[in-house]
Amino acid sequence: MSNFEGKVALVTGASGGMGSAITKALREEGARVATVDLVADCENSDFHVAGDLTDGLFCDELPSRAVEELGRLDILINNAGLMRRGPITDATDEDFRLSFAVNVEAPFRLCRAAIPIMEKAGGGTIVNTASCWGKYPGPDHVIYCTTKAAIAAMTQCLGRDCAPMNIRVNAVCPNEVDTPMLRTGFEIRGLDPETAIEHLNSTVPIGRVASPDEIANVVLFLASDKSSYLCGSLIEINGGKPVY
Ligand SMILES: NC(=O)c1ccc[n+]([C@@H]2O[C@H](COP(=O)([O-])OP(=O)(O)OC[C@H]3O[C@@H](n4cnc5c(N)ncnc54)[C@H](O)[C@@H]3O)[C@@H](O)[C@H]2O)c1
Repeated sequence: MSNFEGKVALVTGASGGMGSAITKALREEGARVATVDLVADCENSDFHVAGDLTDGLFCDELPSRAVEELGRLDILINNAGLMRRGPITDATDEDFRLSFAVNVEAPFRLCRAAIPIMEKAGGGTIVNTASCWGKYPGPDHVIYCTTKAAIAAMTQCLGRDCAPMNIRVNAVCPNEVDTPMLRTGFEIRGLDPETAIEHLNSTVPIGRVASPDEIANVVLFLASDKSSYLCGSLIEINGGKPVY
């Protein structure tokens, strides 16, 4: 029997690099998946909601919309995120507001709405997406690192607070993953993504940046009963590469 037969998951940022890998893997393991993204369509979804996670009310209502459509909610994957680069003196108010709205406030609202639903049903799992850069800040990413430190702290708080409700809250902390986020970053800096990723591969002890599937595997582990004693853990997925 597969790990997620009969379970329902809600995945944010489900049309992106990691979100689509997570959604596909959950469905292959038997889950039904409600997906959320700015993008109108999402491949591999049982129920897609197109919308903007900076809209607080939209976030507040998503968990109950998933229940209305798919009957229950066992798993919440707060995967959506965005990255603003550069030193603080270049950062705009809008960079700050948008980054915190998507990377911190949306997961906060989604957890707040999902936890009572899961508690009533006897339990559930939440997997947040932090980053190695939230644990060990790298250079010139002050807003991004601060948001990822916030979601890491939120995960540790909720991991502790929700364990008595049989709700386990954990986070993945990837380093570099080959997704549109990474590639767009190179393009913005005027670099050819293929060449830049080839160079980046040589900086990782294991010899390559992660694939989205390698992150999805860990997300599924955290969402499943196989991680039944993990509460508030921040799992680094870095191919042996420290942040420097
Ligand atoms: N790629 C990396 O190297 C890396 C490393 C560490 C952590 N992360 C984190 O992993 C997560 C997934 O990143 P990814 O690399 O797959 O990025 P991605 O850009 O491929 O996907 C992000 C998705 O989030 C969606 N999204 C963004 N803003 C939204 C909004 N306001 N409302 C609804 N949806 C919105 C986008 O449309 C996109 O589909 C993010 O939280 C990111 O910070 C990425």
